[in-house]
Amino acid sequence: MEFKTAGRMNALPFSGIRAVMEKANAMQAAGENIVHLEIGRPDFDTPEKIKKSAEESLKAGHVFYTSNYGTPALRAAIAEWENEHNGANYEAANVMVTIGVSEATWCAMDAYLEEGDEVLVPNPVWLNYIHVPTALGAKPVTYSLKEENDFQIDFEELESKITDRTKMIVVVDPSNPTGGVFSRATMERLAEICVKHDLIAISDEIYEQLLYDGEKHTSLATLPGMAERTIKLGGFSKAYSMTGWRIGYLCAPKDIISAVVRVHQYTVTCASSFVQDASVTALKECAEDVEIMRQEYQKRKDYLVKELNSIEGISTNHPTGAFYIFVNIKSLGKTSMEMAEYLLENAKIALVPGSAFGSEGEGYLRISYATSMEQLQEACARIRKAIADLRAGK
Ligand SMILES: Cc1ncc(COP(=O)(O)O)c(C=O)c1O
Repeated sequence: MEFKTAGRMNALPFSGIRAVMEKANAMQAAGENIVHLEIGRPDFDTPEKIKKSAEESLKAGHVFYTSNYGTPALRAAIAEWENEHNGANYEAANVMVTIGVSEATWCAMDAYLEEGDEVLVPNPVWLNYIHVPTALGAKPVTYSLKEENDFQIDFEELESKITDRTKMIVVVDPSNPTGGVFSRATMERLAEICVKHDLIAISDEIYEQLLYDGEKHTSLATLPGMAERTIKLGGFSKAYSMTGWRIGYLCAPKDIISAVVRVHQYTVTCASSFVQDASVTALKECAEDVEIMRQEYQKRKDYLVKELNSIEGISTNHPTGAFYIFVNIKSLGKTSMEMAEYLLENAKIALVPGSAFGSEGEGYLRISYATSMEQLQEACARIRKAIADLRAGK
């Protein structure tokens, strides 16, 4: 007996990167030596203090449901961290703890989007921002982030996409997949547009602590007129290497919190009790651990940018955030999917075709440098040879 899935499921495709991933895993299982550059998760262990804190929490019997909003201690610690690091002005009541930014995205969109509402979304982007509004019956309308514009926003294009159905804008800064960081001037102009058109802004700042070359982060909610309309999404997965702990948060005005908590309470109830305790430790005691990881990413990025730019036929700009490099392969005459397949088959390198992140990603490959320097060195040597062979028509 086959049951008919809900019609809206038809709008939810499997990820476009699945074909390459599955092939890479099958090749690895068959004994091939694959270098993985596709994974968007840190290669470091979670800092010891955080693990210890979770153990202590369990031993102390913190094994029950918490408030839907999150524990008072974690909400207060998040508000304090935001105020200190971003110059925000939050109280604990402005915070809701979630099962990662993924769940925060769903709650925020489900609480505000009606059928037919339009949401401005970057192109390219982490694909949840296309598929979540689509699943909710809303319409993602993309705005371009182009390399020739240093992956900043083209405001003329952005404003031309605003209609009387536009309710929300998504901003991901630093960006997955480009590794770009919006300048202060970009953020200020963006804030003016949000205010002028009365938009709700979803500001995904999950990579905000992973900045390089002295780059500075501007938190959208802190700009004039933005605190009242911004849902800031923050996380622990990337900076603290806690992807498997499933913890994140959103910060917003209290009326927005009371709307999103209704979605949250009927989906997940609350985040795990002991993970919330450990997250307080992350915020209060682990700045040094984050800095050690950040410095390692900085070294890897410097190495990769130099090495990749020395390979004839490909190039990259100078990304200053997250742990991704968006490599321009336009001169090679293959689509990004063809190129990803070519590198997998010929160089045993797994990476993500840029087209998986939206149409503006065509012509690029996303490399994650959340992997060891040795692996990156091996990868560069293999990519250099494979591209030289391709250009030589071998
Ligand atoms: C931009 C962005 N937001 C959110 C997430 C998911 O975060 P979490 O693990 O907190 O759900 C990712 C993961 O790759 C991401 O790249």
